[in-house]
Amino acid sequence: MNILVTGGAGFIGSNFIRYLLDLSDEYFIINLDKLTYSGNLENLKDVKKGFSERYKFLKGDICDREKVRDIIKNYQIEAIINFAAETHVDRSIKEGSKLFIRTNILGTETLLSEGLSGNIRLYIQISTDEVYGSLGEEGIFTEKSVLSPTNPYSASKASADLLALSYFRTFGFPVIIVRSCNNFGPYRFPEKLIPLLITNAIEDKYLPIYGEGRNVREWIFVEDFCRAVYMVMNKSKLGEVYNISTGFQKRNIEVAELILKKFNKGKDLIRFVEDRKGHDWRYSMDFSKIKNEIGWNPGIDFERGLDDTIRWYSENSRWVKNVKSGEYLKYYEKYYGL
Ligand SMILES: NC(=O)c1ccc[n+]([C@@H]2O[C@H](COP(=O)([O-])OP(=O)(O)OC[C@H]3O[C@@H](n4cnc5c(N)ncnc54)[C@H](O)[C@@H]3O)[C@@H](O)[C@H]2O)c1
Repeated sequence: MNILVTGGAGFIGSNFIRYLLDLSDEYFIINLDKLTYSGNLENLKDVKKGFSERYKFLKGDICDREKVRDIIKNYQIEAIINFAAETHVDRSIKEGSKLFIRTNILGTETLLSEGLSGNIRLYIQISTDEVYGSLGEEGIFTEKSVLSPTNPYSASKASADLLALSYFRTFGFPVIIVRSCNNFGPYRFPEKLIPLLITNAIEDKYLPIYGEGRNVREWIFVEDFCRAVYMVMNKSKLGEVYNISTGFQKRNIEVAELILKKFNKGKDLIRFVEDRKGHDWRYSMDFSKIKNEIGWNPGIDFERGLDDTIRWYSENSRWVKNVKSGEYLKYYEKYYGL
């Protein structure tokens, strides 16, 4: 099967490409990525070496209609998995929402409308629990819950979901939506909570925590999420939405304290900082649909995933240094001529 993976140089996309290529030799993957600040070809160095016949990287923008059309035609693409997105909520608040609307909505529209003219058998839109909005201390979202996003990032992701579902209803385009809780694991850009806390703890820097740290997030180890997407690819019905979550819910302060404990460092490294504007209190998703219909269950519990993640960041200090200093941009020029 020839698959177009978009945003495959980012955190989840790169883990997914590695997962799929390792798992089976029946896939040929085109990775289309614009290489924004969060896309990093170093995430795929081993893939480039080990799977050169079944993997190809193309630098480009999912909003580039002609490019998308050419790729679908020239590589006889049969499936599209859209990971590409502007993903950082804080940036959507502090730096403006335009880029989020462009990539997350118009980019999705480009893939859908260009996909219509190809021979696409499957289109998976990677979405988020954040489209449902925020919960208080009680409650849980199912796939039928009303979408009620609260910030420009989640609003753009919710819009993309609705657009994709409209393509299923209107044109019979083979759309499936997966909505994930927070992923953690190797190759995550350290602006996000867990890698930021781990890399700062390694360097004895302060661990910044919003407000009082009592907001709750639900966590999934990235390999578990990749397995879920793979199972959805192969077993699910078209036109469906699947929540992918775990029940591993933690307050942010608990995560920070656990990480410090793993490093034998004191809680005095924690610094409470001004809360995010409109900060969602809690997310929680019911994943019984994917469990009952597809047979997926989380396999890696939070602490085991955290241990693996800490080990990875500790053993990959060069990756961290390059990412944190922006140095890795020079690597593109040097190694890939980009
Ligand atoms: N990380 C999470 O916890 C999480 C949870 C739920 C859903 N998601 C969704 O999963 C997807 C992947 O998230 P991630 O954490 O890997 O993000 P990421 O920020 O690490 O990676 C995003 C990738 O998309 C690329 N990209 C951005 N704009 C592009 C464009 N216009 N054209 C082509 N490529 C572009 C970037 O270069 C980068 O490689 C996103 O759609 C996100 O909304 C993520």
